[in-house]
Amino acid sequence: MDEDLLSRMTVREATHDDYQAVMTMASPDTFRDGFDYLPAKFHGFVDDPDTVFLLVELDGEVVFLDVHFLRDGGESWVAKTMRMAKKMQGRRFSRTFIAAMRVRHLAKFLEMSGRHPKVVHVLRDTERQDLKRLDNAYDLPFKTKSVINVMYFCWDATPRKDRLTDAQMCLPALVPYRPADIHRLLPPAFSATVLSGGLLLVDWDPYKLSEPNMKKLVEAGCYILVDSNVPAAKSLSFGGSYMTPRGRVYHIDIHCKDEALCKAHIITHVKNACSQYTGMITFCVVVTEKKLKDVVMTFCVQYLHFKHLPHDHTYHHYKLKTDDVDMGQPIPKAKY
Ligand SMILES: CC(C)(COP(=O)(O)OP(=O)(O)OC[C@H]1O[C@@H](n2cnc3c(N)ncnc32)[C@H](O)[C@@H]1OP(=O)(O)O)[C@@H](O)C(=O)NCCC(=O)NCCS
Repeated sequence: MDEDLLSRMTVREATHDDYQAVMTMASPDTFRDGFDYLPAKFHGFVDDPDTVFLLVELDGEVVFLDVHFLRDGGESWVAKTMRMAKKMQGRRFSRTFIAAMRVRHLAKFLEMSGRHPKVVHVLRDTERQDLKRLDNAYDLPFKTKSVINVMYFCWDATPRKDRLTDAQMCLPALVPYRPADIHRLLPPAFSATVLSGGLLLVDWDPYKLSEPNMKKLVEAGCYILVDSNVPAAKSLSFGGSYMTPRGRVYHIDIHCKDEALCKAHIITHVKNACSQYTGMITFCVVVTEKKLKDVVMTFCVQYLHFKHLPHDHTYHHYKLKTDDVDMGQPIPKAKY
């Protein structure tokens, strides 16, 4: 089976012309319950010099995709997403495709940065047994770095903007991030106390806290908020928006431990969202601090009167050192 499969498949990089074929196979209507970023981000992924976007064609038809980001000048990589065409799911082809693509990823990473990444970051839904089995097949020594709580709320921004300012009055003031603020973020007092696993999460993607990464996020149009504490800040958040098959999503990724700061970040992002968009917005709020989960829920539902949507998930962020594994191990045989 494997030999037959390998002779029929081609691995290649995605191009802009693949948009329709990819959308047809990638199930954007059901991935993340329809709040899929791929339709909005596809062309950006193709153009981004730090993204490796590979496709598998089987008999000339796109049936699998795998997207990875190279980070920190080639020091690390993030496994972003993989998708199998619906009609081929559950037939245990994924391991063969993943392994075939890995060779291309590693070659591409080397071409892009001149070195092999030392660290791999992966986010996994804690309920996805299929992904757990896929990871286990390679016996990879993943280390859990943090638990990520993702909560979904929707709100019709148009008629109810005014009450946001009232709510904001009694919360700590926040400012939009400026490059000079990096000096209040780099002290260990910030990273060690505020960041889970020492990483930033932005729209679920892990980033090391560094000046170049903050610059990159600013250039990508992220709305970034920080409190004004000195010498080190006590909170940081990232917001941004895109259209999905289920409508507009605005992600709010909050890094802090303090309840009042957490609420201030939410409300300031919601105000920002309302200043830019009208109509129904789905807010996807991410916190890594467990005790803030209840704070977010109560504040959004009881105070802001958001509708809580039944799509919450818990993710684990795993980190793997590439020195600890043989990245060139052979493609495991499909069981049948
Ligand atoms: C994730 C995905 C690529 C896996 O491909 P697939 O064809 O469905 O998976 P396979 O048939 O190759 O099975 C992979 C493993 O998961 C196991 N598995 C599949 N469904 C399972 C389930 N419901 N429960 C437990 N294990 C399951 C299989 O038994 C296999 O493990 P094994 O070989 O050790 O027995 C595919 O399901 C997909 O595209 N899903 C939608 C997009 C997505 O969720 N991507 C991942 C997050 S970005």
